Amino acid sequence: MRVAQVDVADPAPGEVQIRQKAIGLNFIDIYCRTGLYPHDLPHGLGFEASGVVEAVGAGVTHVRAGDRVAYGQGPIGAYADLRNVPADRVVRVPEGVGFDQAAALMLKGLTVQYLFRQTYRLKGSETILFHAAAGGVGLIACQWAKALGVRLIGTASSPEKAALARRHGAWEVIDYSREDVAARVLELTGGQKVPVVYDGVGKDTWATSLDCLQTRGLMVSFGNASGPVEGVNLGILATKGSLYVTRPILATHVATAQAMQSAAAEVFDLVTAGKLDIVIGQRFALEDAAQAHEALKSRRTTGATVLTLD
Ligand SMILES: NC(=O)c1ccc[n+]([C@@H]2O[C@H](COP(=O)([O-])OP(=O)(O)OC[C@H]3O[C@@H](n4cnc5c(N)ncnc54)[C@H](OP(=O)(O)O)[C@@H]3O)[C@@H](O)[C@H]2O)c1
Repeated sequence: MRVAQVDVADPAPGEVQIRQKAIGLNFIDIYCRTGLYPHDLPHGLGFEASGVVEAVGAGVTHVRAGDRVAYGQGPIGAYADLRNVPADRVVRVPEGVGFDQAAALMLKGLTVQYLFRQTYRLKGSETILFHAAAGGVGLIACQWAKALGVRLIGTASSPEKAALARRHGAWEVIDYSREDVAARVLELTGGQKVPVVYDGVGKDTWATSLDCLQTRGLMVSFGNASGPVEGVNLGILATKGSLYVTRPILATHVATAQAMQSAAAEVFDLVTAGKLDIVIGQRFALEDAAQAHEALKSRRTTGATVLTLD
């Protein structure tokens, strides 16, 4: 990665030009940088940021110059100080929500929104398993589960991360670097196991996650922090109890402007109601994005990471 100077054109019809204030770092940025999710080189990185509208292109009516805005799931290239973004990705940031929080919740918060409200709609009486509970998506999930009355069993790789997840609403946290996750889930649920597992870790936790599911339970495999899940024999779903599996992505859940606006509104409402605190665990200057990637990849971060601009 290196910083490059490029010209930014005036916003085209349907685009918003944003003077960015903060950029959200996500694990998907690592997949894009390493080529797991390929893009034609050279390319920018990043999908979520916040800032102030500089100008709007023809036909854009829901925001105007001077508005505080944020976006998630934009075209790749959020690591920038000024850029043009399709207007249907852009939402207003409510009073009281800072630029750092807004930058960190548009991809991670909206992911928890669809995982908990769409992929498997939690009602409030369930006990669930959520891996990497002290991470960016994880700490949002812990708090959202608590707000719903759901008992979230998290996993984390150290006692410090486990304690952090507990402080943010996890009901129990299993240290998967030293404990037997399936055995602990069986114990914690009185032998019932869980109806749904949310797994962003991927390769290393796939088999264990299936072992934690009730008959006809749902495995939500939504990420690859340890590497992608490959070479699966579908028969495993039969032998483990007629399980379901899905591999969802945010893009298909916020495909329209209306879906994006309503999902974002739900997340912002939780923040402004004080039920969701977007925890910024660490900040790096945009120029130090390489160090930020190193920290995220080597499991040295907790909560969300933000790239800052002067
Ligand atoms: N499908 C979607 O729509 C979508 C959207 C957003 C995010 N995601 C996925 O959600 C997951 C979390 O994203 P995030 O940005 O919030 O990252 P994060 O959770 O802050 O960081 C990843 C965490 O995964 C855990 N992990 C386990 N094995 C690992 C390994 N071998 N290498 C690195 N980390 C490992 C680490 O926590 P411990 O040290 O506690 O194990 C690490 O802190 C990622 O898989 C991401 O791709 C998916």
